[in-house]
Amino acid sequence: MNVFELECVSFFYKNGRKALDGISFHIGQGEAVSILGANGCGKSTLLYMLQGLLKPASGRLRVFSEDDLSDSSRARISLLFQNSQAQLFSLSVLDELMFGPLHLRGMESGDAGRRADDVMEMLGIGHLKDRSPWQLSEGEMKKVALGACLSTNPDVFLLDEPTSGLDPRSQVDLVELIAALKKAGKTIITATHDLHAVAEISDRAIVMGEDHRVLADDGSYELLKNPGLLLKANLIHEHVHAHQGYEHEHTHCGPHEHHEHGDLHGPEASGSQEAAGKHAEGGGGAHGEAEVIHKLKVLLPHWAEHNIEHARTYGEWAQKAEKAGAGGLASILKEIAAESERLNALFDRAKKMLPD
Ligand SMILES: Nc1ncnc2c1ncn2[C@@H]1O[C@H](COP(=O)(O)OP(=O)(O)O)[C@@H](O)[C@H]1O
Ligand SMILES: [Mg+2]
Repeated sequence: MNVFELECVSFFYKNGRKALDGISFHIGQGEAVSILGANGCGKSTLLYMLQGLLKPASGRLRVFSEDDLSDSSRARISLLFQNSQAQLFSLSVLDELMFGPLHLRGMESGDAGRRADDVMEMLGIGHLKDRSPWQLSEGEMKKVALGACLSTNPDVFLLDEPTSGLDPRSQVDLVELIAALKKAGKTIITATHDLHAVAEISDRAIVMGEDHRVLADDGSYELLKNPGLLLKANLIHEHVHAHQGYEHEHTHCGPHEHHEHGDLHGPEASGSQEAAGKHAEGGGGAHGEAEVIHKLKVLLPHWAEHNIEHARTYGEWAQKAEKAGAGGLASILKEIAAESERLNALFDRAKKMLPD
């Protein structure tokens, strides 16, 4: 049975801005699908629509084979908002987690309380029970918002950038949780521009282009192996880096403001190496203070972006090594990840020291 059927669905916001253009796909019960796309391509809008919060301007959307989503069908679908503040409204974390069981599932308050306790234990947020959701950190809020989705025990999860705002360890936990939900037969649709977890959380990925149309719809592995497509969707970017005399080429995940490498070298840098995107990150030569600051404004965010990505990778591989029984390796990788985390904080400090 199909949970969602979209035929040529388009949507425009009131200011006339196009967000979805002729989107067609079907998602069956129990499927795990990633919606991939750069910022602004329409992922959140699409999830709002699947949850029934927005209606297509044109085209047809059927949910559980219904043209008009009934309240009982809507209660089977939970949306984790990209911005947790938009989702949380209760006075305490406990109330937030009991809302779904009480009001969407019609449970007795004793049962709803036990459900909330189970979810808090699963997410490791029991210590936040009596806190106001509004006074939590971004990552804690995200976990509470996720808890509110879980406690309702929906058939369909719509997760909008679920890993954003979480620390590396919580990101790994979340990916494992999604994989477990997937195994349990839930339908899970995850909007993300983070390619790291795609293969673990989904079997299929729908790639949206910056023209708000579907660029590709295929198996997750197949799509991840297609750098041309990912580049076209602005999900990766390529550089050739020169690190102290050696070069390596690699791709980066996530949408990216294209920075001009030519800028880093000044107007004289128009040779073939520079044209290929090579930049000397150690940067020799005599530079005036203004020029150094100008270059650091480009380089520091770039280095920081690398470091965040690397720290995450070390953490993920530490978990993998642990699972594979390589405890010694796992613990040193954890240390490396922790050191990289420390560097993240230093990069943040350095970025703040740059003049406007
Ligand atoms: N409330 C809004 N009013 C007007 N335009 C919006 C609104 N929300 C999003 N948009 C625009 O719609 C497009 C799709 O946005 P969104 O669905 O949030 O993309 P994504 O989640 O992929 O980043 C973007 O161009 C965005 O600027
Ligand atoms: Mg979004």
